[in-house]
Amino acid sequence: MIRTEYYKDLTKMNTFGMKVKARCFMEYDSVADLVDIEFEELARPVLHIGGGSNLLFTDDFKGTVLHSKIDFIEVLEDCEEVLVSVGAGVVFDDFCAWAAKEGLWGVENLSYIPGEVGASAVQNIGAYGVEVKDVIRKVYCYDTQEEEFVNFDVGECGYGYRDSIFKNPDIKGRYIVTHVVFALSRTPQPKLDYGHLKEAVECHPERSEGSLTPGLIRKTIIKIRKEKLPEPSVKGSAGSFFKNPVISQEHFAGIESAAKAEHGPEYKVPHYDLPDGMVKVPAAWMIEQCGWKGKRSGGAAVWDKQPLVIVNHTGEAYPEEIIGLEKRIIASVKAKFDVELNPEVEHI
Ligand code: EPU
Repeated sequence: MIRTEYYKDLTKMNTFGMKVKARCFMEYDSVADLVDIEFEELARPVLHIGGGSNLLFTDDFKGTVLHSKIDFIEVLEDCEEVLVSVGAGVVFDDFCAWAAKEGLWGVENLSYIPGEVGASAVQNIGAYGVEVKDVIRKVYCYDTQEEEFVNFDVGECGYGYRDSIFKNPDIKGRYIVTHVVFALSRTPQPKLDYGHLKEAVECHPERSEGSLTPGLIRKTIIKIRKEKLPEPSVKGSAGSFFKNPVISQEHFAGIESAAKAEHGPEYKVPHYDLPDGMVKVPAAWMIEQCGWKGKRSGGAAVWDKQPLVIVNHTGEAYPEEIIGLEKRIIASVKAKFDVELNPEVEHI
């Protein structure tokens, strides 16, 4: 079935809680419904949303917003490796909860990330040392241009850091993800190298009695996320607002020596050395060093426990207030570190 609404209030369909409307909103339940949609005739532009957890609506949307309710989890093959087909409209964390309950490894580190399965495959969501591309086998789509169903092997999806071919401006919007096939595992594959994750798992009250399970890692990750990140149902945000920048070793050496001059010779700047010789520096650290942590600006604020996140502090923030804060953060990081922060959140 396809449901169509005009001048639809999108406040509850974007986790930032921007009070905007869509001229036309269409929600469909099945893969077969997609064939019935006359894409040529839709009010333009057309935007397909998932959980609306990585978007900043800057105004009312003048075209058509589409949303999938394709909602199934189906085991295709159950051996050591377990192939699972999951509808694009499934809440990603419901899939993580299902996998943990089944004792399947692969998505436990991605627990509690807001959003839906279709968007996860477009955005290559990631957390705690795992990216969703690590467990994706195939992405099934509807090609709205050729009006046919197509599928992409994971190697064809062009996955990078929060990136894929589906975000490429030349084809953006052409392919609508219908379902994704994930390869999970019955063999334990704990990935605990990120930060203090291993200690956090070992200290979890349920660890002493039981063995290491995807469920225990899931519980630990949820606890960490709840401590650091705003609860979307309580405080509007789109998770990390900026990507972590990648800079050259020379550039990093300059930042490090300035930080040592400021904080003392023992001071260590957090960073990850990348295989290609470049250095990834947490944007959260830079934003904190510029004094933004917990700062308010009108209805918007920088989250005090994770400054990579901008929140709709009052619940009434205007898009301009969020964008104003974004611009000021970018300018101060540029001035202090000569680094250009790029938003991770898509501005609509
Ligand atoms: N840090 C600070 N001050 C802070 C917080 C963090 O200096 O107040 C520094 C610390 O050195 C810390 C480092 O930043 O070790 C990294 O922090 P964190 O582990 O919280 O990760 P992140 O790089 O800031 C990324 C993802 C998050 C994901 C976490 C955990 C991006 C843009 N963000 O953040 O993803 O949850 O890692 O894996 O890559 C999201 O995409 O919406 C998101 C929340």
